[in-house]
Amino acid sequence: MLIKKPADILPSEITPQRLFERRREFISRSGTGLLAGAALWHGLPSSARATTKLQTAPSALSTTEPLSDRDAVTGYNNFYEFGTDKADPARNAHKMALRPWTVSVEGMVGKPRRFDIDELLRVAPLEERIYRLRCVEAWSMVVPWVGFPLAALLKQVEPLGSAKYVEFVTHYDPRIMIRDVIDWPYTEGLRLDEALHPLTLLAVGVYGETLPGQNGAPLRLVVPWKYGFKSAKSIVTIRLTDKEPATAWNKFAPSEYGFYSNVNPEVRHPRWSQATERRIGELRKRPTQMFNGYAEQVASLYQGMDLKKFY
Ligand code: MTE
Repeated sequence: MLIKKPADILPSEITPQRLFERRREFISRSGTGLLAGAALWHGLPSSARATTKLQTAPSALSTTEPLSDRDAVTGYNNFYEFGTDKADPARNAHKMALRPWTVSVEGMVGKPRRFDIDELLRVAPLEERIYRLRCVEAWSMVVPWVGFPLAALLKQVEPLGSAKYVEFVTHYDPRIMIRDVIDWPYTEGLRLDEALHPLTLLAVGVYGETLPGQNGAPLRLVVPWKYGFKSAKSIVTIRLTDKEPATAWNKFAPSEYGFYSNVNPEVRHPRWSQATERRIGELRKRPTQMFNGYAEQVASLYQGMDLKKFY
């Protein structure tokens, strides 16, 4: 995610942009895009990075591409509530208490319900889903998430026929999280048919263990055909609605980040091309694939839509 609004930039928004540029310099100097965060992550006390093993079954929906380095996935993060540098979330997310944690599933549903996180772990059998993740900043990773389809949870609350969208609201605690940059809490949204698609995952783990805080513990969204910023972290509310929900980055810079945010090499970000990407840990750039390589499964959701307009 990138922050830059030259004309109307607020003083509070200047620092993140400066930090971002410093980070870019570091990435291009180090060549691989790795990894200030990993060193810090390993330097943390073990209590700050406690995760537990999860029982999982493999999924037929996984890619067979080689996994990205675990230290990259858990040390090079965007979780702006904990700071704007890629290394900040691994350093700071342990401040977030993960129990008790409840998730309210509400709005246009027949059976609204507040789930305890430990109940959510039993909503459906946990699967390991190895997905490509393509970030709007033009880097990508291959990540072994552990989770269950969002559809399994939505089924339990019985969406009403009038529900058209799903809004995700994430945890915000100003005592431990930053106060500027965007309008908190971080929110995201999907159309209901996107939310019900079998690829759309609620992740509770990564690399066979519960999520570390910086990856969105205890529950985050993963939508592999969309840019990474759709993956709302540390979710507390899932709300079904008949109106397109406002999303955090779209509110911040509507001309740069749309509601759909499908990976699309043909639609430029206003300030850079989306035609190629660099996989974390590699030097070469590779072409970005339509819908991040998931076109066969998801292109039909957008039939007849002008994807340049609905970016
Ligand atoms: N969720 C919250 N709550 N806050 C954030 O800042 N950043 C998003 C997304 N989810 C973000 C968030 C962005 S920009 C990206 S690219 C992905 O998380 C990164 O996920 P990862 O750090 O697990 O790779």
